[in-house]
Amino acid sequence: MIIAVDGPTASGKGTISKALAAHFGLPHLDTGLLYRAVGRQVFLNGGDPDCAEDALAGTEFPDSLLEDDILRDEGSGSLASRVSIHPSVRKALFERQRAFAEQPGGAVLDGRDIGTVIAPDADVKLFVIASVDARAQRRFAEMSGRGAETTLDEIAEDLRRRDERDTNRKDAPLKAAPDAFVLDTSTLDKDAAIAAAIEAVEQALPSR
Ligand code: DC
Repeated sequence: MIIAVDGPTASGKGTISKALAAHFGLPHLDTGLLYRAVGRQVFLNGGDPDCAEDALAGTEFPDSLLEDDILRDEGSGSLASRVSIHPSVRKALFERQRAFAEQPGGAVLDGRDIGTVIAPDADVKLFVIASVDARAQRRFAEMSGRGAETTLDEIAEDLRRRDERDTNRKDAPLKAAPDAFVLDTSTLDKDAAIAAAIEAVEQALPSR
């Protein structure tokens, strides 16, 4: 069974995907981490994330980079959003994601284009959304907890910028597949969001 979970940054899709993977006993791939690694590698190479050639060179990152906590930073997220607009970068990362989706038994993948491009054949597609305010509050709490100095306004502004870039890029923009179940987590806490996602998957798979 392939479960595709897409949605914007801080919508709750990562938490939901991990919980779905644990509940259904499936491996999970956070595809955003791959784009973050590319962005980080471009930075380490001294390249320009807006230059297609430099961004493509960043796809040759070592697997060890995926373990680096720096990928969780806002800076890496912003670099990821910039390198992800290049079709050559998306193409270079396609096979790795597709192979993960196709493994025997299935998988949960989360990202922006899983239900539309990577696994249009997914058994269940969730599109997780939340208001910018709710997402900024969550991100602020998470970052304050890590001791990062930032303001709610700065975070909200960054989220809007990234939404704009992810939604308006030509290649594989952030958008719900026509057959996706849209889950709005704006007013849900973590447990309620997970419960709603499990229910949505179970309803989509009545025979299980
Ligand atoms: O999910 P995230 O915040 O870690 O993703 C970081 C960036 O990577 C996001 O702004 C857009 C890009 N991305 C993408 O283009 N396609 C994906 N499947 C996952 C992430």
